[in-house]
Amino acid sequence: MSIDLKNKRIVISAGGSGIGWSSAKIFLEKGATVYLCDINSTFLNKCKKHKLNNKKLFVFQCDASDENQVKNFFTKVLKKTKKIDALINNVGIAGPTGTLEKLKSKDWENTLKVNVISHFYFSKYSIPMLKKNKGGAIINLSSTAGIFGFPLRSPYCASKWAVVGITKTLAMELGKFKIRVNAICPGTIKGDRMGRVIRDKSKFLNVSKKLIEKEFVSMTSMNTWVYEEDIGKICSFIISNDAPRISGQVIAVDGNTLRMH
Ligand SMILES: NC(=O)c1ccc[n+]([C@@H]2O[C@H](COP(=O)([O-])OP(=O)(O)OC[C@H]3O[C@@H](n4cnc5c(N)ncnc54)[C@H](O)[C@@H]3O)[C@@H](O)[C@H]2O)c1
Repeated sequence: MSIDLKNKRIVISAGGSGIGWSSAKIFLEKGATVYLCDINSTFLNKCKKHKLNNKKLFVFQCDASDENQVKNFFTKVLKKTKKIDALINNVGIAGPTGTLEKLKSKDWENTLKVNVISHFYFSKYSIPMLKKNKGGAIINLSSTAGIFGFPLRSPYCASKWAVVGITKTLAMELGKFKIRVNAICPGTIKGDRMGRVIRDKSKFLNVSKKLIEKEFVSMTSMNTWVYEEDIGKICSFIISNDAPRISGQVIAVDGNTLRMH
């Protein structure tokens, strides 16, 4: 089955790099129009180069954790389209690494602000546009840390369980409007961000990065990394007309995580 996203209008938060950008490129290839934002202008400039060849990509700068900036982003999107088919609540930072008593309050608060409150802002401004469309999909990026505990990453773990709670609740609130709400839980993605997480953990535990890397992979029954494009592909299916009755689900794309430490 080849997935068709022709005529689908998709908003992505924090889409300038990583999973968001990889997914945006997959959506564009499948015919969708993408409205993405990111806080980082260097990443956005790279996206703009891609935009030169793609008239279906709209790129804006926005700090997802600042409600005024999110509102402003949606004002710009509304000038392009009154309806959307999907929102990818992708924004989420890794947060600090350490045992809970050593973590700083401001790092805890910031992790929840970026990973949870931002999802509230984006959903709040998207829902009227999804209702106008008479249906659509919200996909919230959680993590395997939203299914298991995650030693040394308590704020991240708490934020990703919160994302599951929002997903379950919104799916119940929005079902009658034919708006489907699901959470995707990526495992350990091979890329820059996990490189940073592994570096921080190896520093904290004073062991080699190689050992931490090996440990992460060995936590899955498939003994595997996950790749950015795995996430864009599952999102494409959920957004498409081929998944009209999938809602309220928490879907792990993680090579089957068995444990988190
Ligand atoms: N990478 C992984 O291994 C992994 C695993 C599980 C879940 N996830 C989740 O998937 C999502 C995407 O992860 P990723 O690895 O692509 O992230 P990433 O750390 O690579 O960052 C992606 C983008 O987020 C942007 N960003 C950061 N703060 C922002 C803000 N306040 N406003 C707007 N943009 C902001 C960055 O500029 C960057 O372009 C996150 O929610 C993350 O928690 C990732």
